[in-house]
Amino acid sequence: MHADSWALKAKKLGLRSRAVFKLEEILKRTKALKKNSLVLDIGSAPGGWSELVKALTPSSNIYAIDRLPMEPIDGVQFFQEDILNIDEIKDIFLLKSKFNLVISDLAPNLTGIRSIDEENIFELNIFTLRVAVNYLCKSNGTFIIKTFQNSMLKKLRTEMEINFNLVQTYKPAASKSKSGEIYLYGEMR
Ligand SMILES: C[S@@+](CC[C@H](N)C(=O)[O-])C[C@H]1O[C@@H](n2cnc3c(N)ncnc32)[C@H](O)[C@@H]1O
Repeated sequence: MHADSWALKAKKLGLRSRAVFKLEEILKRTKALKKNSLVLDIGSAPGGWSELVKALTPSSNIYAIDRLPMEPIDGVQFFQEDILNIDEIKDIFLLKSKFNLVISDLAPNLTGIRSIDEENIFELNIFTLRVAVNYLCKSNGTFIIKTFQNSMLKKLRTEMEINFNLVQTYKPAASKSKSGEIYLYGEMR
């Protein structure tokens, strides 16, 4: 399917974003989402990923965070906050080391200057990786993070390999090839 057809499909199905299809494919291939999971959705607005997780596993508890507002979703606890301040959100902080799945679709504002953008993406990714490691359950935690194919990708993957037992790279069909976005998957065992 052409990349823009995914946007059309999302609209027809009444979904909040076409990003849903990307996560759906990764979840299907990895079987990362189990019933009754505790899920942290980072960079959640407008809410497509949270909505998908809730639809696939209604028994899961979802906590979502974004610095932009998000329309409410039944069963999803949303916090409008910068990810840098996550430890200040008491409800989430109390769940440190308890999450089964952390998903991050964070995308920083771009300056258009490649070296600065690549550095900013890397720093945000590394911060998010630290959050995932701190908040995931050490025995079965799983992490899915969107990043970009650039000069820092190898360094990021190495950091993932240090922190997770299994690391895989995904480029879902719904992801525009031109966009350069790519997804890293990490599993603790
Ligand atoms: C591609 S969108 C997420 C789409 C979402 N996964 C969905 O399916 O609807 C990226 C989000 O990251 C958020 N974001 C970027 N930097 C952030 C930060 N430092 N803290 C919190 N949210 C951030 C943006 O506000 C934006 O809503």
